[in-house]
Amino acid sequence: MDVLLIGSGGREHALAWKLAKSPEIGALYAAPGNPGIAEEAELVPLDVADHAAVVAFCRDKAIGLVVVGPEAPLVAGLADALSDAGIRVFGPSAAAARLEGSKGFTKDLCTLHDIPTARYRRFNNAPDAKAYIQETGAPVVVKADGLAAGKGVTVAATKDEALKAIDACFDGDFGGPGAEVVVEEFLEGEEASLFCICDGERALFFGTAQDHKRAFDRDRGPNTGGMGAYSPALCMSDQMVRRVMREIVEPTLKGMREAGSPFRGVLYAGLMLTEAGPKLIEYNVRFGDPECQALMMRLDSDLLPVLIAAADGDVSTVTLDWSHDAALTVVMAAQGYPGAYEQGTEIRHLPPQTPATTVFQAGTARSGDRLVASGGRVLAVTARGRSVREAARRAYAAVEAVDWDGGFWRSDIGHRAIMIEER
Ligand code: AMP
Ligand code: GLY
Repeated sequence: MDVLLIGSGGREHALAWKLAKSPEIGALYAAPGNPGIAEEAELVPLDVADHAAVVAFCRDKAIGLVVVGPEAPLVAGLADALSDAGIRVFGPSAAAARLEGSKGFTKDLCTLHDIPTARYRRFNNAPDAKAYIQETGAPVVVKADGLAAGKGVTVAATKDEALKAIDACFDGDFGGPGAEVVVEEFLEGEEASLFCICDGERALFFGTAQDHKRAFDRDRGPNTGGMGAYSPALCMSDQMVRRVMREIVEPTLKGMREAGSPFRGVLYAGLMLTEAGPKLIEYNVRFGDPECQALMMRLDSDLLPVLIAAADGDVSTVTLDWSHDAALTVVMAAQGYPGAYEQGTEIRHLPPQTPATTVFQAGTARSGDRLVASGGRVLAVTARGRSVREAARRAYAAVEAVDWDGGFWRSDIGHRAIMIEER
C-alpha cells in the first residue's frame, strides 16, 4: 500500500522509520518531511494547508492511507477533506480534533461525562476572569482556549502572575475577538501520558510515557514542547492504566460519539496522578513529540495495519506486541530554544543507526551537501535497553557522538524513573 505521511518533525521521522519497516508498505511519501525522513520516504513539496492539493496528490498516486502527524492540519480539517474525497486517513475530523483545539470544549465534555479533571471556569473577558482569580487565589492555572503551540498555559504560583496571564490571553499573543480562557485548579502529583489508537468506538491502549517539559535539568527553565521522554512510564501500573481507560478514555469516546464527532486517531491523554486518583490535564489528538520516538522504538508489531484498522473504524481484532525494553529519547535543541534560537549551524556528524539506537531528525535541513539545524528541537536521540538506565546510557552515548556545536540538551532525562528502578 502506498502511504502519505504529513509532517516534518522528529515524531514524523519516527513514524516514517517505523512505517518503512512494514512488509505491507509500497511507496512511502512525506510532505513536507525533513532530511531524516528523506532516508525513509520520498519527500513531496505539498502545501499541507492546501487541502485540494493534498487530495489531488493522493488521487494521482492512488494513496491507500494518509497519516497526519501534527495537530494543526487536523484542527484545520485535512482529515475531513480527505475522507470526503474517499481517501483513507488516519487522524480525527476537525470536530473530533476539538479535544485538542479547544480546552473549553474538552473541559465541558469532562463535566458532562463525569471525567475527572481540574475544577475550572471558562471566561470570554478579562474582568470576569480576574474577579474569579481574586476570589480563588493562587496557585492557579490559566489557559488560552485554542492551539497555542505549547505557549498558552501559565501555571501561576501567585495571583499577580495569574492576572498578568489573563491580560496576555486577552490583549497579547492569543488575544483578538472570540478569545477565551479557562482558569483551573492547580493539580499536584506525578505527570504521565497515556496513548490510545481509537476507531470511533473503541480505544486500543498504545502505551505510556513521561515527557520532560522544562528546558533545563531538574525541571528548571521555561516550558518547551518536550526535551526528552521515556516509555513506559514507571508510575503507570497496569491497574492505573485500566483505571484511566475506564474513568477517562472510554467516557470520552462515548461522549464524542454522542456529540456526533466520533474520535478516530491517536488520543493522547496528559494525566496528573493526584492523591484523589488520575485526572485529565489535557488531550492531544496526535502522538506526542518526542514521546512517539520512544513508543516507536518499543513497538514490535507492524504499525501500518493498526493505523489502517483505526482509519477503517475497527480496531477490535488488532493485537500489539511490545518489546520488554524501555525506550528513552533525548532532545538536542538549538541554543536559545524555546526562545529565539540560532539556525543554520552545521551538524557535522551523526552516529550510525544500531539495533538499539536511532537519531531521529526534527529541525534539520540540507544546505548544499551540509546538514544544518533549522528548528528549535533539532535531533531526538533515541535508544532502547533492558531498563530505563540502560536506554539512557545508550542514548547519552549517542548524544556524545553527535558532532554539532549549536545545541544543548538535558542530562537528566529519565532520572526519576532510574531512581525508582534502583530502589
Ligand atoms: P500544556 O501546554 O497544556 O501541555 O500544559 C503544560 C503543562 O502545564 C502541563 O504539562 C502541566 O505540567 C502543567 N499544567 C497544566 N494544567 C495544570 C493543572 N491544572 N495543574 C497543574 N499543572 C498543570
Ligand atoms: N511532548 C508534548 C507534546 O507532544 O505535546
